[in-house]
Amino acid sequence: MQIFSGSANLKLASEVASILNIQIKNAEITKFANSEVKVRIIDNIDNDECFLIQSTSNPTDTHLMELFFFCDALKRKGAKNITAIIPYFGYARQNREHLSGECVSANVVIKFLEAIGISKVITFDLHDEGTEGIFSIPFKNISSFEVLSKKIKSYLKEKNISTDSIAITSPDQGGVERARNFGKYFFENSDFPIVVIEKDRDQHAIHQSKAVGIYGDVKDKTVILVDDILTSGGTLFNAAELCLEKGAKNIIGAVVHHDFSPDAQDKIQKSVIEKIFTTNTIELKTEQEIPKLEEISIAQTIADTILEKK
Ligand code: R5P
Repeated sequence: MQIFSGSANLKLASEVASILNIQIKNAEITKFANSEVKVRIIDNIDNDECFLIQSTSNPTDTHLMELFFFCDALKRKGAKNITAIIPYFGYARQNREHLSGECVSANVVIKFLEAIGISKVITFDLHDEGTEGIFSIPFKNISSFEVLSKKIKSYLKEKNISTDSIAITSPDQGGVERARNFGKYFFENSDFPIVVIEKDRDQHAIHQSKAVGIYGDVKDKTVILVDDILTSGGTLFNAAELCLEKGAKNIIGAVVHHDFSPDAQDKIQKSVIEKIFTTNTIELKTEQEIPKLEEISIAQTIADTILEKK
């Protein structure tokens, strides 16, 4: 078995390799001044099973092209099978025609992944599980909620906050199943209510949404807002403010992918949210390291998946 890493999240790939007690194989990624990229595999591959770790995070298109070129180079060098581990799957939110005449970008990306000869795709907390049905190659969607909920539980325990006073909340209609899945890990049973925020998104304006309603009781509760992605932060901030208006005591975020827009970290730090727990599916830049954000590693989960323990 051989592990390779694209340039998107070398830190995570190195953590996985260290858990597996192997070295990341050598490859050269050249970035040209005109923004083109080139990939060259340096180490020998002898009909090996190859795992390539590459998040298709911002800059999404560059990271995607790198992933495609990596696969081509691996095949030319003699890889038997290539499993693409894409911890953050960019374009997953563009999975249907939200407005008439729009492209369905997620489908296009999947077609490319299949055409380039990838044998299997593994990802974390894909935006919409329905997208799974589009893949005609083996596909695995792993949940990071086991590690995230464990961390949040220990944080709440340290603060003497009882699990009885928790309201698991979805910041929009589309996230109800996600919030419930998180709750199942958090409470270790299925018998709990979910609070749902009704979000209204303006499909004609980028990053604009409003929290227009709330279903469920948050009075005197510690609210855990569960979401897959945070970009502008609008979804979470609006939900948090509405919950506080309705009497919530404090707000914690459980967000898998920190796919931040440039000023998201400043907005989080200034927001009413006490703390956001996230994962390292996307590499955190130094300027994004803020006290209110805590990253939990998914490296062990990836290592277990590679060893087929998960
Ligand atoms: C939407 O359906 C997603 O699950 C997220 O809620 C959304 O993409 C977050 O984006 P933003 O932080 O810009 O509101």
